[in-house]
Amino acid sequence: MTSAQNTAVPAPADAHSYARPTEAIALHLDLDIVVDFDSKTISGLASYQIENIAGTDEIIFDTRNLDIEQAYLGESKEETTAFRLGEEDKYLGQPLIISIKPDTRIVTIKYKTLPGAAAVQWLNPQQTAGKKYPFLFTQSQAILARTWIPIQDSPGIRITYTANVKVPEELLAVMSAENPQEKDSAGMYTFRMQQPIPSYLMALAVGDLMFRPLGPQTGIYAEPATIDAAAYEFAEMGKMLAAAEKLYGKYRWERYDLLVLPPSFPFGGMENPRLTFVTPTVLAKDRSLTSLVAHELAHSWSGNLVTNGTWNDFWLNEGFTVYFERRIMEELYGNDYANMLQVLGYQDLQKTINELGATSEDTCLKLNLEGRDPDEGLNDIAYEKGNFFLRNIEQTVGREQFDTFVKKYFNMFAFQSTSTNLFLHFLRQELIKDDELAEKINIEGWVYTPGLPEDFVKPVSSRFANVEKTYTDWKNRKSAAQLNTENWSSHEWLHFIRILPEQMTAQQITDLDNAFHFTTSGNSEVLAAWLLHAIHNNYTSADQALETFLINVGRRKFLVPIYKALIATPEGMEKALALYAKSRSNYHAVATVTLDDLLK
Ligand code: BES
Ligand code: ZN
Repeated sequence: MTSAQNTAVPAPADAHSYARPTEAIALHLDLDIVVDFDSKTISGLASYQIENIAGTDEIIFDTRNLDIEQAYLGESKEETTAFRLGEEDKYLGQPLIISIKPDTRIVTIKYKTLPGAAAVQWLNPQQTAGKKYPFLFTQSQAILARTWIPIQDSPGIRITYTANVKVPEELLAVMSAENPQEKDSAGMYTFRMQQPIPSYLMALAVGDLMFRPLGPQTGIYAEPATIDAAAYEFAEMGKMLAAAEKLYGKYRWERYDLLVLPPSFPFGGMENPRLTFVTPTVLAKDRSLTSLVAHELAHSWSGNLVTNGTWNDFWLNEGFTVYFERRIMEELYGNDYANMLQVLGYQDLQKTINELGATSEDTCLKLNLEGRDPDEGLNDIAYEKGNFFLRNIEQTVGREQFDTFVKKYFNMFAFQSTSTNLFLHFLRQELIKDDELAEKINIEGWVYTPGLPEDFVKPVSSRFANVEKTYTDWKNRKSAAQLNTENWSSHEWLHFIRILPEQMTAQQITDLDNAFHFTTSGNSEVLAAWLLHAIHNNYTSADQALETFLINVGRRKFLVPIYKALIATPEGMEKALALYAKSRSNYHAVATVTLDDLLK
C-alpha cells in the first residue's frame, strides 16, 4: 500500500455529501450487523476510527432513511454523546451530526435500516434461481451506501473496514472484502477490507450461495442452480486478469471473484472490490458477453484504485474503464473483435447524444450534477465519449507512450481520489508537453464542449461491414433463410438487429424471426434489441417473450428502452402500465426510481 492514504490529495468539495472531511474524517469502519429477513432490516453498530483534523466539536455522516438509535464515543462505548439529524433532502438524505471532542478517536453509531432502504433489495425465494431461500443484495453506487450504513458517503473519502455479519444459518454472506468460501453453521461471518476504499464500494449479499474456484486467484459465487453455467461462462477470467496486469500493472486487491446475482440486479455489473457483482443476463452459454467482466475487472485500477473525487468526474471512472476493457478484449480476442465493441459503443454514444441534444451540457465529460440525483447524470457520455477521448490521445501520441503514461497515472494516484483537473494537469505534465500536440488532442473540445469534436474519427469494424452487406441483401428482398450469417457472433447479430429499419412489414418481421429465432434467443442483448422491433411493429408473437422478460429481468439498461418504446403510442402505454404493475415488485429501487418517473 502507498503512504498516500486519505490525506495526500485534498478532496474537491462534493455537492452530494454532507460530510466535511477537511474538519473531521472517518478512516476505518468496524461494522457489526444483523441481517433480518423477517423484518427486512439490517441493524447494529457502525464504529468509526476518525481523525478530528480541525479539532472541531462535531463530525458529520450521511444518512438516508436510517433509524439512528444512539451514538457513543471511545473504544468501549463508555460514553453516549449527543447527535442530531439535519434537514432532509430528497436525494441526499439527512446529515447525522455527532458531538465529539478534540481528542475523540472512535465514534460508534447504533442504527437500523428501514424496510425501504434504497440500496438494499430483499428478494423472496420465488425471485431467486433456486426458489427455496430468500436473498439480499446491496447496490451502493452512486449515493446509496448511506441508506444502509451511516457513512461519509463521498467518493473523495476512503476507509478500510471490517465487518461481523449475522445472517440466517442456511445462508452465506459475502462482501466487497476478504470473503468466506463456505457456509458457517451459525451464520456468523467476518470480513476485512485492508485497502482504503470509497463508500460507494461498500457491498453485501446474502443468499444460498456456493463458491467454485476458477484458478488460484479467481472464482465464482452463485446459487447452486447457476454455478455450473457461471463457471463455464467466466472460465477466461484468469486470462483477463493476466492481460490487465500486463497492460497497467499489478492487481492490488489479491483475489478477484465474481458474484452472480438474481436477475433483478439493476446493472450489468458492479465493481465491488475483490468481488464484482454481475447480472445473470450475461450467462449466454457461449461466453459472448464477457466483456462485461473485463469492464468490472478494469475498475480494479480505474475507479477502485484511482477514484473520481466527485460524481462530476464520473468519466474518469467509466471512460478509463471502457478504454481499458476494450484493450483487455483486444489482447484476448484480437482487433476485429475489439472493433465490434467500439462500434457498438459508438452507436450507444450517438443515441445518448441524440436523446440529450448535441448542445446539452450533460454531453460534456466534465459534469455539473449539483442539486440533482447523480444517478440521473451518469450515462453513456462518461463511458463512451470518455473512451473515445482516451483513444484519441492514444492515437495521437502512440500506444506505447500512452500506456506508459496510464500506468504511471494509476501508480501515482493509487488509493486516492482524483479529478478532471488533476488528471489534465498530470496529462500535460507527463504526456502532452508541446502546444502542437495539445492542439491536436483538443482537450477543450472533448472535456468541456458538448457533443463530439468535429474531427472525431468514427470507429469501424470489418466484421460489421460484412453484416451490412448481408443487410443489403435482405433489403433487396432476399429471404432471411438465404442470408449469409455464417459464424456470426452475438455482436454481429446485435449490429444486424440494430440496423434493421424501425418500420417493417408483418411479413418481413415474421420472416426474420422464423429464420433466426430472435424471440426465443438466449442472448439477453439480442433479445432486448429485438423486442424493440417487436414493439414498434406490433409483432404480437413476441408478446409472451416480452412479458416474461419484463417480469424477470431488472437490468435498467434493458428496461428503459423497452418501456420507452412501449409508451410511444396510446395502446402501448396501456400495455406498459399493465406490464409494469406486474413487474414492479421484482425491480430494485435504482430501476423503479427511473421507471416510476417514465411511467407516471
Ligand atoms: N459502476 C458501474 C455501474 C454503475 C454506474 C452503478 C453508476 C451505479 C451508478 C459499472 O461498472 C458499469 O458500468 N456497469 C455497466 C456494464 C458495463 C459493461 C458498461 C452496466 O451495468 O451496464
Ligand atoms: Zn463501469
